[in-house]
Amino acid sequence: MIEINTIKGMNEWTKSKKSEKLSVGFVPTMGFLHEGHLSLIERAKQETDLVVMSVFVNPLQFGEGEDFDDYPRDKQRDASLAEAHGVDVLFYPDVEEMYPTPLSVTLKVHQGVDVLCGGSRPGHFDGVATIVMKLLQIIEPEKAFFGMKDAQQVSVIKRMVTDFNLKIEIVAVEIVRDEDGLAKSSRNVNLSSSERAEATKIYQTLKQVKHKALDKHTSDIPGLERWTKNQLKSQLIEGEIDYVQILNFPELTMPTDYEGEMILAVAVYYERARLIDNITWHQRG
Ligand code: PAF
Repeated sequence: MIEINTIKGMNEWTKSKKSEKLSVGFVPTMGFLHEGHLSLIERAKQETDLVVMSVFVNPLQFGEGEDFDDYPRDKQRDASLAEAHGVDVLFYPDVEEMYPTPLSVTLKVHQGVDVLCGGSRPGHFDGVATIVMKLLQIIEPEKAFFGMKDAQQVSVIKRMVTDFNLKIEIVAVEIVRDEDGLAKSSRNVNLSSSERAEATKIYQTLKQVKHKALDKHTSDIPGLERWTKNQLKSQLIEGEIDYVQILNFPELTMPTDYEGEMILAVAVYYERARLIDNITWHQRG
C-alpha cells in the first residue's frame, strides 16, 4: 500500500493506472476504521482492480456544536488496517490540502434532506455532497462504495451522480453489526459501557417493527412509528431519541401508497455519540 497526501500525487497515480487500463474502486471514509469499512474494501476488491481509500474528517459536514473535534482519529491504526485488508492507496489529505481557501462554490442538496439526519443536521448533506464530489474528481474511480448504515447518504450521493451525469457506479453495501446487533460505527468508541449495552435495544426494536410490518401486515405507518418511539422510550434510559421515521427508499418521501421498498430509520443521542441505524423491507401492496 502507498500513502498519498496531496491532490497532485493522487492525480498522477490515477493517470498512470488509467493508462494501464486498470479499474479503480473508491472507499471514502472519515477513518477510525471498523468492520463496516472493511466490508466496503472487501467489496471493492471483488469488483475493481485497485482500491483507493480516503481518510478525511470533513469539517464541512459538521455543524456548530457537533463532534468534529471529538471525532475519533487514529492514523497508524487506520493505515495498518487498510494495508492488511488489501487497500492499494490510502489517500490521506489534510484540511489545508482539501480546502486551501474557503470554497467559492459548494453543492446544495435540495431533495430528501428535510427528513432523518438532514432534518436534525441542517447543511450536513451539502458538506457530504461537496466533499464526495471533490474526492470523485480527484480519484476518478469507476465505482464508489458506501455503507447502508447511512442510507440517506447513499440516497443523496446516488441523486448527485444522476443529476451531475457522473460516470461512476455507486455501490451500497449492507450494514455490518456486532454480534449483539449494534451497527458498527466509528462513534461507538465514544459510548460508555452502560450506553453501549443499552444501544443494542435499537436494532432489536427495528427488527420487531419489520416483523410487525411484514408478518402481521401492519400498514398503519404513523402507528408503527409511534410504536417504535414508545418501545425505544421505554427501553432507553441514557439515550434520547432524535428521530424515528418510516419512508420510501431510496426516494425518502412520505409513503402514501404503502407499497415497495420501505426504510425505518432512527437516530439516538448519547452523551458523546449520536447513533443512527435503519432497517429496510419490501412491502407488498
Ligand atoms: O460516511 C462518511 O464517512 C462520510 O460522510 C464521507 C462519505 C466519507 C464523506 O466525508
